[in-house]
Amino acid sequence: MSITAVAHPNIALIKYWGKQALPGNIPATPSVSITLDSLTSTTTVRPSETDQIHLNGEATADAKISACLEMLRADFSIEPVAIESENNFPTAAGLASSASGFAALITALAEFSDLGLTTEERTVYARKASGSAARSIFGGFASLGGPDWVGKPVLDRNDWPLKVVIAITDENRKSVSSSLGMKTSEETSPYYDAWVSSTADDYRAALEAIAARDFERLAVLSESSCLKMHGVMQSSLPAMIYWRPATLSCIHAVRELRSNGTPVFFTIDAGPQVKAVCLPEAVDKVAGELAAIPGVIATHTVGLGEGARLLEP
Ligand code: PMV
Repeated sequence: MSITAVAHPNIALIKYWGKQALPGNIPATPSVSITLDSLTSTTTVRPSETDQIHLNGEATADAKISACLEMLRADFSIEPVAIESENNFPTAAGLASSASGFAALITALAEFSDLGLTTEERTVYARKASGSAARSIFGGFASLGGPDWVGKPVLDRNDWPLKVVIAITDENRKSVSSSLGMKTSEETSPYYDAWVSSTADDYRAALEAIAARDFERLAVLSESSCLKMHGVMQSSLPAMIYWRPATLSCIHAVRELRSNGTPVFFTIDAGPQVKAVCLPEAVDKVAGELAAIPGVIATHTVGLGEGARLLEP
């Protein structure tokens, strides 16, 4: 008997970077995201003599997946399992593969081992595995904030069907993992405390902008959250500079497009890829502009996707 689940990456518009000094992998900042379609993590769990993990067809001893199993086994009895996970996009390159991967894994394991988890409980276990994974349990717009730090649905994807043009500027795995990067920022960035204290207002304002479908307001808040997070990363010791030259070219192109009236804004996670979020009528123009930038290897146009779900056998 095997169980397969699929989930999509999400990209945060209001970012989380940093963790509270508490157990349970609790973010230091609340976040709001959009879940993407087309990019998919597909994870199958089956019975096995010993735990085995295959990632994109290769046997691996992935420490975060082992830690996820251990975390669940602290609360539930789970037999040894073989886990196979495939991403149809580059892994650990700033495309949120851990968000989709862990949302799919928790969803598959919960069914496989009959854990009886509610959707809310799935977001909590997903968060413990990888903070951003809590948000990929939901489609459309989702949030992760205090005081309970449970992932929540914010708006259905059909209620504001934004498009995202992803500009790939480097396909290599990122050099610094998010967990290590956050720890470095907490300990060394002189801007870290200001980042944490300013995010609560951004979060509230972004939820209001989404409720009002106020694109311009969401654009300003999202770009500001992204640049503040990268400011913290770049002011850490050692500095984390995830951007490639083409990343910066894309930032300028998107800002110019918006100042000329095209409804688009950028966001960038812990990696070099630029996600240009736009209204549907602007998507061809945005994709054309970004594809023409030297150093942009490829562009992918995606819409808003569904939450993590089981695949019928
Ligand atoms: O899910 P983690 O712990 O790998 O952290 C992800 C952090 C960012 O992607 C940079 C921002 C976010 O809120 O998703």
